[in-house]
Amino acid sequence: MMLDGLPAIVTGAGSGICRAASLRLAAEGAPLALLDRDEAGLDETRRLVEERGGRAVTLPVDVTDAGAVEKAIAEAVDRVGAPRVLLNGAGIVIRKGLLATSPEEWDRVIRVNLSGYFHVLRAVVPPMAAAGGGSIVQIASSSAHLGGHGYPSYSASKGGVLTLSRMLAHELAPQGIRINSISPGATITPINSGTFAVPAIHDAMAGAIPLARLGAPADIVGAIAFLAGPDSAYVTGIDLPVDGGLISRITMPGDNSYSTFSES
Ligand SMILES: NC(=O)c1ccc[n+]([C@@H]2O[C@H](COP(=O)([O-])OP(=O)(O)OC[C@H]3O[C@@H](n4cnc5c(N)ncnc54)[C@H](O)[C@@H]3O)[C@@H](O)[C@H]2O)c1
Repeated sequence: MMLDGLPAIVTGAGSGICRAASLRLAAEGAPLALLDRDEAGLDETRRLVEERGGRAVTLPVDVTDAGAVEKAIAEAVDRVGAPRVLLNGAGIVIRKGLLATSPEEWDRVIRVNLSGYFHVLRAVVPPMAAAGGGSIVQIASSSAHLGGHGYPSYSASKGGVLTLSRMLAHELAPQGIRINSISPGATITPINSGTFAVPAIHDAMAGAIPLARLGAPADIVGAIAFLAGPDSAYVTGIDLPVDGGLISRITMPGDNSYSTFSES
């Protein structure tokens, strides 16, 4: 077990990708502190972890509340031990274009998806550094890489996650802390299950993905486990797309004449 006895904190653990990641981190031997604003979701994740022989405590918290986050992380340290792994994943989406997005909706998305990560990082880094370091994995999104018709507030928040992670790789390295992000593509979870239940939307998305299908949380957790664990000991400051090839569609224009044309 590659994380045997190494405490891990997971935000957004009450559902979707971070629930699945919690089960994987627990299977790798990490005792878990599970954070989410959804108490019932957290209880279900803990039940699933314990059913498989893992150990987890639940700490209901809204990540937009910096003081509450600080208290929850202090409690996690007391009950589970100083964190050696952090998965920052609590997130929301508001599917509206620029002019349809109100200033309050913009603020809400940025406060959860970007400031929420910031609050958790500020609370986790001191005990992680004091314990000798660790690995931080932040969930960004393919939306941070793509243009097109989407949700500007969400894409901007995830673009912020990308650059925050890259910048912090330098600041945290002297403390023995690595930090990387992953960019999942279209992954069916409660955040979008309604959208992808519409066959036309589902099929258009699947058609845009080189591997020709949408993802599931199980497709994402391997990348999280890799970045959390010792196999990535020399990796920091990267973003790892986990998207069936979706963002690789940013290609040279036209046919393959660029790759066959010779200047000499
Ligand atoms: N599903 C996808 O297609 C996809 C793609 C790229 C990135 N992501 C990102 O992956 C992460 C997990 O999303 P998911 O797809 O599993 O969705 P999800 O809705 O299943 O899980 C999100 C979790 O975050 C929690 N949360 C939301 N606001 C919170 C707050 N203020 N405080 C505490 N917890 C809060 C929710 O309660 C929920 O349990 C998110 O950051 C999301 O943006 C998802």
